[in-house]
Amino acid sequence: MSHVLYFCKKHEKQMNILILGSGGREHAIGWKVAQSELVSQLYFAPGNAGTQLIGQNINVDPENFEALKQVVLEKQIELVVVGPEAPLVAGVVDFFKKNIDLKNVRIVGPSAEAAQLEGSKDYAKAFMQRHNIPTARYKSVQTQNLDEAYLFLESLKAPYVLKADGLAAGKGVLIIDSLEEAKHELKAMLDGKFGAASQTVVIEEFLSGIELSVFVLTDGQSYLTLPEAKDYKRIGEGDTGLNTGGMGAISPVPFADKTFMDKVETQIIQPTIEGFKKDRLDYTGFVFIGLMNVEGEPYVIEYNVRMGDPETEVVMPRIASDIVPLLMAAADQTLDQKSIDFHNDYACTVMLVSGGYPEAYEKGFEILESENCTDSIVFHAGTSEKDGQIVTAGGRVIAISSIAASMDKALDFSFKNAERIQFRKKYYRKDIGEDLKQYL
Ligand code: AMP
Ligand code: GLY
Repeated sequence: MSHVLYFCKKHEKQMNILILGSGGREHAIGWKVAQSELVSQLYFAPGNAGTQLIGQNINVDPENFEALKQVVLEKQIELVVVGPEAPLVAGVVDFFKKNIDLKNVRIVGPSAEAAQLEGSKDYAKAFMQRHNIPTARYKSVQTQNLDEAYLFLESLKAPYVLKADGLAAGKGVLIIDSLEEAKHELKAMLDGKFGAASQTVVIEEFLSGIELSVFVLTDGQSYLTLPEAKDYKRIGEGDTGLNTGGMGAISPVPFADKTFMDKVETQIIQPTIEGFKKDRLDYTGFVFIGLMNVEGEPYVIEYNVRMGDPETEVVMPRIASDIVPLLMAAADQTLDQKSIDFHNDYACTVMLVSGGYPEAYEKGFEILESENCTDSIVFHAGTSEKDGQIVTAGGRVIAISSIAASMDKALDFSFKNAERIQFRKKYYRKDIGEDLKQYL
């Protein structure tokens, strides 16, 4: 009898969950969500060949809101988690909240207005200035104030940081050594180098330090701080070559000690959440705070209104608590009643990419052995299924995450599997975590 009751109770609470997106981040969030007893069916839109192994992919574009609505109603989805920034900036959360047919569906993500924290550098800098959040000194400029812009550049020391205001596929930030070249590039940006995204340019003071990323889950009133992570952005070993979406990540970050993280909490996270309240921003979901540690002092480099990729592939494995009640509480604005537990172990991820990335690369190569890896979690990023085979479908292909008592051990597991998984023109950085060993 009691067994039957227990079963009914458990069953009652189960729900169908939809995750929007198709990368390693979404596979990692899905992997964590799938471990919850509260999940009945897990869906991804559009997902990839890895998400198909833990849920069901639905071939719908996350920016096609009407099509999403049909899927949500048809599949009786109760919770939607938005992975990437584009649907957020395009207003997917506003669409869901305004639509009467979707009034019982919870959605985790900020409104389009709040998503401007990522969608517009100028908006983000003004937010930080308004709420006294430490960040680099800056000036936002347009073609009509070019003279003022040159004067501001002249007042700074090299190198010069120029940022396209809008989303520019991760390419909109230039760091330039010479003043003459900075002036030249500034003019080119204002003249449309990054299209509409660089009609406004943010000129910033250069901050010298070491970067890390801090993540928060918020309901707009209270928050839970998630494990922090360090990303490896450049394509080449020793942080050389072009910027990528991220070639690997480590969590925890050994130099982010308690003193530093306490400063992050009081000087950055708390004023950020207070800022949401004061500005009446409708913010539910993840906040990704890109930080520079400048001689022990944290400065915000950027806000993203979503989780990082590949940081999520180390953050999720370090969360011990069931994430579904936390996502529900974020959507219901009851996060103040929740707490979160972490695993103290080290998590690392090593990204396998297509040769040529982040420039031109080929797709469609068969991937072998991804299902035979032991000691790691294989998160798919750019993969798809073709004629029953898993093939490469993007620049970043697979993130191999491992968790162990030491960073070295975690890295050993990931590198072992980075060798094991095969596809034509595979490349990965062999120095993930190297720079952090001095702080251990
Ligand atoms: P963002 O798109 O704002 O994250 O900038 C891309 C990268 O440029 C960051 O990850 C930093 O490495 C670098 N960067 C951005 N702003 C600054 C700054 N003010 N000082 C030094 N480096 C910066
Ligand atoms: N890894 C950096 C990002 O997700 O933007």
